[in-house]
Amino acid sequence: MIKSLKTRRNLIHLCCTLCLFIFLKELYSLQELDISNDYYIDEDIFTHIRDVKFSPKANSIYFHVTSLQGYMKPSAACAVEAAARAHPRKEVYVLFTSPITDSDIVTRRYMSITLKKIQRFRNIKLLRVHLPEYSNGTVVESLLLNNLKNSIFPEQHTADIVKILTLNKYGGVAIDTNMIVLKTLSSLPPNWILKENEIYVAPGIMGFAKNGIGLNVTSAILKEIADTYKPNNLDITNRIVIEKVVQRICPIRIRWDGCKDIFIYPSDEFYPIDNVFGMSFPKAPLSQSAFSFHLDTLTSAVHMVSQDILNTFCPSIYLEFQDNLLVLD
Ligand SMILES: *[C@@H]1O[C@H](CO)[C@@H](O)[C@H](O)[C@H]1NC(C)=O
Ligand SMILES: *[C@@H]1O[C@H](CO)[C@@H](O)[C@H](O)[C@H]1NC(C)=O
Repeated sequence: MIKSLKTRRNLIHLCCTLCLFIFLKELYSLQELDISNDYYIDEDIFTHIRDVKFSPKANSIYFHVTSLQGYMKPSAACAVEAAARAHPRKEVYVLFTSPITDSDIVTRRYMSITLKKIQRFRNIKLLRVHLPEYSNGTVVESLLLNNLKNSIFPEQHTADIVKILTLNKYGGVAIDTNMIVLKTLSSLPPNWILKENEIYVAPGIMGFAKNGIGLNVTSAILKEIADTYKPNNLDITNRIVIEKVVQRICPIRIRWDGCKDIFIYPSDEFYPIDNVFGMSFPKAPLSQSAFSFHLDTLTSAVHMVSQDILNTFCPSIYLEFQDNLLVLD
């Protein structure tokens, strides 16, 4: 009896020592990461989609970071956080097309902070795509790998093309990194796009399925991009080609509302911040708010309201950057 008691006490002692050891080791390694590594980020920090046998659900949400240095701005991280909060049961993928290359310490610091914040969300997945593989065998392969070298707007052109390519491969919703989502988009049908007016589309946020008419639309847009690309035209990879394709399928008559299971919604509910202004967040009922807004419309808006809105929809990122959130590049 006494012996077994002693053994037990020894065992407990051993366990405690072990726990303490592990705890101190963790503490030490955390400090080591923060202090000595000086916001070091491995250039290939993100898992490649090839290595995870990427097979996303059809209702997933996508952002694309196409900065040539692989950096995600704080405002982009805010957009990702807002979409993830509005869709806790969906996966939000952020696909990076470039490795993170060495840059100045300030940028590295911002990136390190934003990554720590958004990696805490279980439904946000940061992944790396290699364009040669991602575009392999598609109509935009040669464009992405060769012609974009002459682009005056390489970051934007790449983002536009890869966005449509992602929807073509996997289907889902694609959101530009300057669109802040306020409430769930789940009530929207599988195939939808926004119109700025009865002629122009507003391409910042859209949904297309990976089969049926959705696949037809994204395939046709990719082909149109490959056929008409011009290195010095900013809109040639987004608004212009999308309009051509959607108008071909759903011709403009009096009202341009969609056809054949494609829905064309007015952008009022998605782009301007005005319709969110009267609401006092965070108490306001979200059912009455717009779906989203474009960050450009916020910078010109009233300061205090802007802060309230950002603090409500991307609080983790807002907490770190506050007023600087919109000015940091
Ligand atoms: C492209 O696909 C072909 C055929 O499946 C394959 O042999 C080749 O390695 C792929 N290239 C890249 C860059 O993945
Ligand atoms: C998609 O395109 C194919 C080939 O052009 C056509 O046969 C098919 O009917 C289209 N699907 C839909 C849903 O319109």
